[in-house]
Amino acid sequence: MKSTAVKAQGLGKKFEVDTVVVEALRNLDLTVNTGEFVSIYGPSGAGKSTLLNLIGALDKPTSGTIEVFDHDLNAYDENFLATFRSTYVGFVFQSYNLSSTLTAIENIAFVIELAGWKAKNLFDRSEDLLKLVGLEHRANHFPAQLSGGERQRIEFARALANNPPLLLADEPTGNLDANTGEEIVKILHKIKKEGKTVIVATHDPKLLELSTRSLYLKNGRLTRNE
Ligand SMILES: Nc1ncnc2c1ncn2[C@@H]1O[C@H](COP(=O)(O)OP(=O)(O)OP(=O)(O)O)[C@@H](O)[C@H]1O
Ligand SMILES: [Mg+2]
Repeated sequence: MKSTAVKAQGLGKKFEVDTVVVEALRNLDLTVNTGEFVSIYGPSGAGKSTLLNLIGALDKPTSGTIEVFDHDLNAYDENFLATFRSTYVGFVFQSYNLSSTLTAIENIAFVIELAGWKAKNLFDRSEDLLKLVGLEHRANHFPAQLSGGERQRIEFARALANNPPLLLADEPTGNLDANTGEEIVKILHKIKKEGKTVIVATHDPKLLELSTRSLYLKNGRLTRNE
């Protein structure tokens, strides 16, 4: 595995809505090495989700370059980027994305199937992932029958389904109370020990504590780098 996971140079992202232009990211430089656990914090609207979306190739920058595991994301078309995402990136979003009509285990199996795993291994792998997040006893529950924290743990199981080397998590404990958030912190601790690269947008002191580095983002700029 390459020693540099993410390298962004002069990264900028502008959004234009009618006549309003928002500079969500401005001339941002960032290097994250493999195995690092980096947290990004800063006020609402600072550009945290925008930055994670660019790193995860869900959106393209309007200026600058971004390389993830030596792939120049500007250089690829949408087809390649879809392959890139399913090979390299696990994404836990700020809002829940589970399908309400699938059970917990089906929600996980569905993602694994999309990645092209054989049906025979599908449910074994799904069960292993449920165990990883401590929810094997909730396999047949639908999302509406799970607590907020349990749903978020299923999101982690889905994000890890393809065993990606890079995990991006956008405020994964943001909607949870402190006790429920603990379970998520434990999962992230396990992921860190496995040597995955983790980048998380968070204000949670427990996640900041787990980080090897915290970056402060304000008005689209990284102002502190500790
Ligand atoms: N798709 C979009 N179209 C237009 N403007 C956008 C879009 N996405 C984000 N923005 C704007 O870009 C800025 C940064 O948004 P972003 O979601 O990255 O902030 P954030 O730091 O994640 O905030 P929060 O802590 O509230 O999640 C905001 O001013 C927002 O209004
Ligand atoms: Mg956000």
